[in-house]
Amino acid sequence: MKILLTGGLGYIGSHTAVDCIENGHEVVIVDNLSNSKIEVLGSLKQITGKNIKFYKCDLCDFNKFSKILKKEKPDQVIHFAGLKAVGESVQKPLMYYNNNLVSTLNLLKAMELCDCNNLIFSSSATVYGEPKSVPITEDFPLSATNPYGRTKLMIEEILGDYQKANKYFNVVILRYFNPIGAHDSGLIGEDPNGIPNNLMPYITKVAFGKLKQLSVFGSDYNTPDGTGVRDYIHVCDLAHAHVLAINKNTENKGLLIYNVGTGKGYSVLDIVNTFIKNNKVDVPYKIVERRPGDIAECYASSKKASKELGFKAKYNLKDMVTSAYNYEKKHTNL
Ligand code: NAD
Ligand code: UFG
Repeated sequence: MKILLTGGLGYIGSHTAVDCIENGHEVVIVDNLSNSKIEVLGSLKQITGKNIKFYKCDLCDFNKFSKILKKEKPDQVIHFAGLKAVGESVQKPLMYYNNNLVSTLNLLKAMELCDCNNLIFSSSATVYGEPKSVPITEDFPLSATNPYGRTKLMIEEILGDYQKANKYFNVVILRYFNPIGAHDSGLIGEDPNGIPNNLMPYITKVAFGKLKQLSVFGSDYNTPDGTGVRDYIHVCDLAHAHVLAINKNTENKGLLIYNVGTGKGYSVLDIVNTFIKNNKVDVPYKIVERRPGDIAECYASSKKASKELGFKAKYNLKDMVTSAYNYEKKHTNL
């Protein structure tokens, strides 16, 4: 099938592009490069041996984007494009609402114009707000605590309304938990601009001396070691969930929603200590105050994705920390 990936040069999109190609799909990427680099395209060619069609285009530019979609006529679209930094979304809410909502509305309008009726959408565990218990199942109440999360929630609702109005439209909403790690080749991985907000890219920068020390946000949570617990999933496992979702969309089921996590929770100190032990490096850290807005524990029930998509995580925590380290190593001039 021909699959168009919006935001396909980003962290999750690039790994998904590889898996799609390895599963016999043709990939077309549209990205405005606001949070990715054109060099990723070369890395994708190196990994897959395939020339991938790329358009530099902002989805907020409807005229330009709809022409691309009309020309390419993909069988399915995977919509990764979006801004994703929680803190920045609090500072610049209009930028987040504009980029994430307008790009999605433009995508849906353009898909309608060219009769493309199959979509996979990147949602997030953030839509569960502060969950009442763990593991989290897909029917838990939804809420948002910041503008970024609210864009995901709003888009989920828009997709629901649109699907009700268009019975030919199939959409799989994937609610990602915490993707970390990198492709085995070390050629693609997570490369955030500026100082990372997320745990794993921060750890790798500290390990290579680019940042002095990690701040562990809080050690007084009601968790086994007092630090926050999350469901970390290898980005290649997450990427594969999209290939399974492509297959699912062909069953014409309308709207489907799946958590994509491993179902296992690890604490911040589990991650730091596994990273230190497996990569034989030092990661200086200190315990500081809790980060405002953080929750104690968040991990998925992955039963629905397992039963209905056939999803099963292949990689363990050791694979996640070693691949993250190897990617950073390859991209650091020591
Ligand atoms: P990323 O920033 O690496 O990738 C997003 C890509 O979209 C970037 O390449 C960026 O240049 C592009 N983009 C942004 N706005 C665009 C626009 N208007 N037009 C065209 N391209 C645009 O992020 P990621 O980690 O790969 O995340 C992909 C998706 O998954 C995002 O929607 C994100 O919100 C969601 N998500 C990510 C996580 C995570 O922890 N990484 C967790 C849950 C959900
Ligand atoms: N943490 C630290 N120090 C850091 C960074 C993080 O101790 O420098 C801790 C956090 O307090 C938390 C854990 O590490 O306990 C994970 O934090 P991340 O920032 O890596 O991830 P979050 O779970 O806070 O949020 C991420 C994305 C959200 C997304 C959510 C669920 O940033 O956008 O996963 O998918 F919604």
